[in-house]
Amino acid sequence: MKKKFLAGVAIASAMTLFLTGCGSGSDDKASGSGGGGDVIKVGFAQTGSESGWRSANTDSMKKAFSKENGFDLVFNAADNDPAAQIAAVRSFINQGVDAIVVAPIVEDGWDDVFKEAADAKIPVILEDRTVSSDPSLYATWIGDNFEAEGEAAGKWAADNVGTAPTKMVVLEGTTGSSAANDRATGFDKAIAGSKITKIDSQTGDFTRDGGKKVMEGFLQKYGKDGIDLVFAHNDDMALGAIEAIKAAGATPGKDIKIVSIDGVHDGMQALADGEINYIVECNPLLGDDAAALVKKVIGKETVEKANFAKDGAFDQEQAKAALPTRAY
Ligand code: AHR
Repeated sequence: MKKKFLAGVAIASAMTLFLTGCGSGSDDKASGSGGGGDVIKVGFAQTGSESGWRSANTDSMKKAFSKENGFDLVFNAADNDPAAQIAAVRSFINQGVDAIVVAPIVEDGWDDVFKEAADAKIPVILEDRTVSSDPSLYATWIGDNFEAEGEAAGKWAADNVGTAPTKMVVLEGTTGSSAANDRATGFDKAIAGSKITKIDSQTGDFTRDGGKKVMEGFLQKYGKDGIDLVFAHNDDMALGAIEAIKAAGATPGKDIKIVSIDGVHDGMQALADGEINYIVECNPLLGDDAAALVKKVIGKETVEKANFAKDGAFDQEQAKAALPTRAY
């Protein structure tokens, strides 16, 4: 069962500065490594390259875990395959890295390999998504508050669309991921009591192609007049849905409203163009803070167990204003 350490934190909660709180793994392999200027060998197990968010996150991580910053980064992208991601972590253990950073594709299934890392005295730092394992099996986590993101998206939908009877379809993220699970929880909570009815919900795996295919299926099943609102768990799936809606002869953002999560450049452009109605941000620029956390964990400093990035939200006018200076 999932350990709910993220519950109840507001969307605007500030990035924690990692200076106080509960201790991280105190018997790490790499004591002395990295704390005094040595190169820190870090294995980073990324999910894959499913979305614009993921590309921005990978860039941020590679830049932060650079040679100039004192790291020797071993990078792996698992192509959204949980078994391949666990194999990558096992390979990092065999390579004797100083620390392992994981962006877990799914929440479950991590206990054994995290115990193997602990036996090898290699600290595990979670980045982006969370896991269902006992928190004692990893040193710390840094990422965005997915439940608060879902709640903010749902609140917008309830206040702006759900005042009249509304038929909604959902494009879910990767099944079993904390991003999909927590966004669904937050959104459903926020629309309770509104006039929104969820008529269907399916995974598009956080990809543009997946979002397009699932939306095509929904349009075939319900017709373009049978759907009023799309909740897409990320911008890429919303962008795929836009293509499907246009191909079905309807106007995205008008005939069928769309709310999504991420705030990547292409999503923000579609929002500014009126094809998406609202986007809740999910900040992918976690690299610098993740790298600072790794150094603290290796240096045996105390760190917070959960470190939240700061997220905003945008309507169409705010997207127009934000686009020119948007970093990703
Ligand atoms: O875990 C974060 C999610 O993963 C992003 O919202 C999505 O775009 C990505 O694939």
